[in-house]
Amino acid sequence: MRNVDVRLHRDVAIGTTHPRLFGAFLEHLGRCIYGGIFEPGHPSADAQGFRQDVMALVRELAPTIMRYPGGNFVSGYNWEDGVGPVAERPRRLDLAWMSTETNQFGTNEFIDWCRRTAIEPMLAVNLGTRAGDAARNMVEYCNHPSGTTLSELRRKHGWAEPHGVKFWCLGNEMDGPWQMEAKTATEYGRIAVEAAKMMKWIDPSLELAACGSSGRRMATYGAWEQTVLEHTFDHVEYISLHTYLNNYDGNTSAFLASPDLMDDFIDEVVAIADAVAARRRSPKRIMLSFDEWNVWYRTRRNRRDRIKEGWPVAPSILEEIYTMEDALAFGGCCISLLNHADRVTAACLAQLVNVIAPIMTETGGPAWRQTIFHPFAHFSRLGRGRVLRTQIDSPTYATRYNDPNGPNDEFFAMPAVPYLKLAAVHDDVGGTLTLFALNRSLTESLPLRVQAAGFDGLAVSEALQLCDPDLKAVNTKQQPDRIAPTPLAGLRMEGGRIEASLAPASWNVIRLAAR
Ligand code: AHR
Repeated sequence: MRNVDVRLHRDVAIGTTHPRLFGAFLEHLGRCIYGGIFEPGHPSADAQGFRQDVMALVRELAPTIMRYPGGNFVSGYNWEDGVGPVAERPRRLDLAWMSTETNQFGTNEFIDWCRRTAIEPMLAVNLGTRAGDAARNMVEYCNHPSGTTLSELRRKHGWAEPHGVKFWCLGNEMDGPWQMEAKTATEYGRIAVEAAKMMKWIDPSLELAACGSSGRRMATYGAWEQTVLEHTFDHVEYISLHTYLNNYDGNTSAFLASPDLMDDFIDEVVAIADAVAARRRSPKRIMLSFDEWNVWYRTRRNRRDRIKEGWPVAPSILEEIYTMEDALAFGGCCISLLNHADRVTAACLAQLVNVIAPIMTETGGPAWRQTIFHPFAHFSRLGRGRVLRTQIDSPTYATRYNDPNGPNDEFFAMPAVPYLKLAAVHDDVGGTLTLFALNRSLTESLPLRVQAAGFDGLAVSEALQLCDPDLKAVNTKQQPDRIAPTPLAGLRMEGGRIEASLAPASWNVIRLAAR
């Protein structure tokens, strides 16, 4: 393969990564909460039932913000069910996942878990089966200091100080027919704006995210965002985006190209949000909350299949086992998010434990890292700073990606996919320049040459790669580190020039000390 040239300049940046870009998601779904982060009786559980082995892996993964309690689950959730004496909490049918919800874990436990892991909480309110009244009551319960029935109820439950939750999602995927009480854009826009007004009247410091489309393939995509923002523009800070990549076709080249569709999705939603601003002659810029993203396709099931299982408690559903190639596509998503740091200022990997997750557990047994754990940990640990604009001259390939998660089986023609996908992050406080690089060629090494202008002296401080000749290799309880980062050797440095050879089908992280 011919040389791949990258040019960047220290002074030319896209934006600075927001700490909320590195978030994840905990839903009452399968074994995400129960048997995931919370398992009283597990050998590693603390007095509150929080698994410490999972917590140690969460700290290593380093998510910064955590979305809760759903997802589809939130559209039927009564937040009141999850607070107060545990023995008195109701058992309910959860129609999102056709399970029984025991409510042994609720909002206050979630807040405690977040405090213990130093993660910012992000709460979603139910705008499916409920609306503004339940939403404003939940804000009063969580954030009002004292002196009202709901704030005093929180205090009586054992949480004397207000939770001070800043980031709230106004429902979840309200455009999706699978959602409890799905809505048209106008119906949702009306309910969302009224909920938003009341929530902010109680706590003006809130930051709110309106639901965007549940995917770019939805028939209402585009029109949905426009209508919702026309209603909510003055009352929200964010619009949400969700994407799950797939390899249904067994076409790895197309799969590795597919994160580029996230770039298009982001650019399109920015354009729609800014068009709504332009019509109002408003300088306000709506930010993007990419609050569900991941690879997910093997464990999708419909309600008809789930109903046969008879309302189980915390069933083992959506337990996707991630391969080496999944980690590569996933790394591509991290690069897409970094390269939109100016407008994507919140994002959540969906999800955290067991359910389409970087961390797997056995109930009563150990916890381990899935393949996708590694690119996320690199992204969060090393992706903080100014994302530099890059000019990339890479050979390309043509492919077709199938995205059936919309109304039709739709193919995207992708005529010119660069083999190299890359992001460069300059941390001027720590004095580092980090390159995240994905080689999408399945057969050839990429001879990478980076010309980093404006940096006096660069020295390698860390260089890692994730690759394996078996793209279907996975991590398991028996072999938890089958796929793990290894050193990337053979880097050459000269002034502001960096040269490396990136192995076929590899995720690479090169961290340079930069003066
Ligand atoms: O993350 C799994 C599910 O995917 C979420 O509950 C829902 O919002 C999305 O469709």
